[in-house]
Amino acid sequence: MASADESLVCQLDDGRTAAEPCVLVILGASGDLTARKLIPALSRLHDRGALPAPFQIVGMARRTKSDEAWRAELRETVAALPAHSSLPAASWDSFAARLSYCTGDLTDPAAFGRLASHIRERAQMPWARRILFYLATSPSQFSPIVENLCRAGLLERGRSPEAWQRVVVEKPFGHDRPSAATLNAELLRFIDETQIFRIDHYLGKETVQNILMFRFSNAIFEQIWSRESIDHVQITVSEKAGVGPRGGYYEEAGALRDMVQNHLLQVLALIAMEPPVSLDAEAIRDEKTKLLRSIRRIPPAAVARQVVRGQYAAGAIDGQARPAYRQEPRVAPDSSVETYVAIELFIDTWRWADVPFYLRTGKNLPLNASEVRIQFRAPPRVLFAAQCGPLLDANAFTLRLQPDEGISLRFNGKIPGTALRLRPVRMHFSYHTEFQAYTPEAYERLLLDALAGDATLFIRRDEVEAAWAIVDPIRAAWNGIPLADAEFYPAGAWGPRAAEELLARQGRAWRNPQPV
Ligand code: BG6
Repeated sequence: MASADESLVCQLDDGRTAAEPCVLVILGASGDLTARKLIPALSRLHDRGALPAPFQIVGMARRTKSDEAWRAELRETVAALPAHSSLPAASWDSFAARLSYCTGDLTDPAAFGRLASHIRERAQMPWARRILFYLATSPSQFSPIVENLCRAGLLERGRSPEAWQRVVVEKPFGHDRPSAATLNAELLRFIDETQIFRIDHYLGKETVQNILMFRFSNAIFEQIWSRESIDHVQITVSEKAGVGPRGGYYEEAGALRDMVQNHLLQVLALIAMEPPVSLDAEAIRDEKTKLLRSIRRIPPAAVARQVVRGQYAAGAIDGQARPAYRQEPRVAPDSSVETYVAIELFIDTWRWADVPFYLRTGKNLPLNASEVRIQFRAPPRVLFAAQCGPLLDANAFTLRLQPDEGISLRFNGKIPGTALRLRPVRMHFSYHTEFQAYTPEAYERLLLDALAGDATLFIRRDEVEAAWAIVDPIRAAWNGIPLADAEFYPAGAWGPRAAEELLARQGRAWRNPQPV
């Protein structure tokens, strides 16, 4: 007999185990993303029996390599990942049998003819015409690859029930709004918007998806989800790692483009959007886009007041010395690229008027933690609040996105005893304790969705442009202005002092995530 809890499970889809037989082609297959994210995710999906059958994975890159050499290379990287130590050898072997490698220069149109033959040799009709192309390359190659795929007859506009082709495009999608719009226009010359899957891996995280369930499957939270009850919102994505070997990329990106334009704004959109009219991809993406469009632009003159940038100087984390950003490989010794950003944003809607949303992210911070803190208004200054004054903590919800995923409610309670004393206490829901289930990695979910043609967790054309429109004026205001001394923070600190002042000016303070 089903337990009480099981009888209450409401299943909305099939868990994506039923995608049709098809082919996945990874363009740029010798890169880090393929070995560290895509192949591990695919091998776990294979182990769980969640991949279609038959199913072929073709890797394509410039370096000449045999299938065996590519498999062995991937095996080595995957085996070194902590989450994979438990993957049975037999499972890897049967997975590896699905992998093949096609040597080809992605800028050479002739290579795509060879890719077409490679696919024909390994897949049968009709599923040989159902292909998901994954662009794991540098952004400058995105549109030439799509053009080459089309010219080779591998990628066709539209779809029929028998055959479909889709393209997953990695970030960064453009480097500002005009370049994103140009890239959109270039891709749309060859394929339809319904075939383009712009990835933001934060949307594949279980806890990020849960924001929608939390808000729209419970009656109690939506009632208080507005300026009537909420004082402000803090979204923190802190990373303990520095830039490490990615200095070359990071010098072009910086934290604003690398993290804020995509991951943080996506989390903000899910937290603040209006209820969608349905659970369809378009309905959800309509609301996210509307929300992004209603974020008030920060005019250049206000950037210094509403945005704080920072760069890590040398320091230490957990007793280990960390070099300054300027000493990292492939970073200019006088670089002014930001490794930290804190922003105050306002959303011009009836629901959120005058409620500040504070977003911050940085490298070489004390902890790995992503969380959203909904800080409620202080209680009226009567009774306990009148007596305790500012000592009485306001209520808060914390949605911990990673690690130690969970949701906490903070409220005040009486300390037991004869004296009348209060302090904040916490009611905590932990995913791990509640479900003890395997949590799929973001790329597992996103790959399955792309194979099944579900675009809900991918970014739409207008959405990506709306997100750039928010960050572009900030970058423009920083352009050419070197970092001031006060904008450096030692590795291991919670960012530059100015980030504290950003909130302190309004009588508020950051609440730093706590270690697990
Ligand atoms: C990537 C950024 O998109 O996200 C990285 O390019 C960052 O700089 C990473 O470290 C963070 O992702 P996660 O899943 O580790 O929080």
